[in-house]
Amino acid sequence: MASRMNIWAPFLLLASVFTFSNAGKISIYWGQNGNEGTLAETCATGDYSFVNLAFLSSFGAGRNPQLNLAGHCDPYSNGCTGLSSNITFCQSKGVKVILSIGGGAGAYSIASQDDAKQLAQYIWNNYLGGQSPKRPLGDAVLDGVDFDIESGGPDHYDDLATYLSAYSAKGKKVYLTAAPQCPYPDAMVGKALDTGLFDYVWVQFYNNPPCQYSSGQVTNLDDAWKQWTAGIKAKNIFLGLPAAPDAAGSGFIPTGDLTSKVLPVLKRSKKYGGVMLWSKYYDDQTGYSKAIKSDV
Ligand SMILES: *[C@@H]1O[C@H](CO)[C@@H](O)[C@H](O)[C@H]1NC(C)=O
Repeated sequence: MASRMNIWAPFLLLASVFTFSNAGKISIYWGQNGNEGTLAETCATGDYSFVNLAFLSSFGAGRNPQLNLAGHCDPYSNGCTGLSSNITFCQSKGVKVILSIGGGAGAYSIASQDDAKQLAQYIWNNYLGGQSPKRPLGDAVLDGVDFDIESGGPDHYDDLATYLSAYSAKGKKVYLTAAPQCPYPDAMVGKALDTGLFDYVWVQFYNNPPCQYSSGQVTNLDDAWKQWTAGIKAKNIFLGLPAAPDAAGSGFIPTGDLTSKVLPVLKRSKKYGGVMLWSKYYDDQTGYSKAIKSDV
């Protein structure tokens, strides 16, 4: 009996290492503050696995699709093409660079299934593997598209997801990610998420007190987390948080509370993928990602 145990012990040890090493990743938003370092500097920190470029803030229903990267560069004068080398630098470091569409302040909506098709084609030609004479970020091919839809109505984002996802067949995979609000299901992207086409979903557990962590109480957040992990097909769900108290109206979690009280609960879930932070600017102010990195 004893010798049998010895024979199997190394295999059991190996199995347990794989079973319990549930290391998550950090996803960050970059683009809405000129004082947050360059994109290449962001990726050079080694802290992030995903950078969401925020935002393609205007699109659909006859609008001219428009990128807004605040003080970083001016897309109107074609001033953001220099980002191409930063994007390929990030990708060489294993960081996925994603175009985030929508955001809190833009003007956007999709008028019809055909409008969704045209938008998908525009994004493919201008930011992904297609071609266009005036690519706002130059030749670099982004890794995917993030749906941060917070206004303008929920219609046809399922169509947009379907059309974008179909471009994966042309070669490089087009990753689809989303940033819904924590009340489940999300009013804007709920239907799009039902397509099952999304790879990573970073749920915003902020600006929504009923599903947030608050002063020692993880129950509300965990209840919502369970709805999200059970309700959508995506296999990687992230805990979306403000990186500083003033990065959002509410929902900031001190790093000590996060690592000792919140993450241990969420990590019981097979779908736990890591932590999303808003944003690089606020992360620079607090050092949030560096403080939590080894526990994510
Ligand atoms: C990143 O872009 C800036 C300009 O926006 C440029 O000066 C810098 O050389 C780029 N870095 C890399 C690694 O491409």
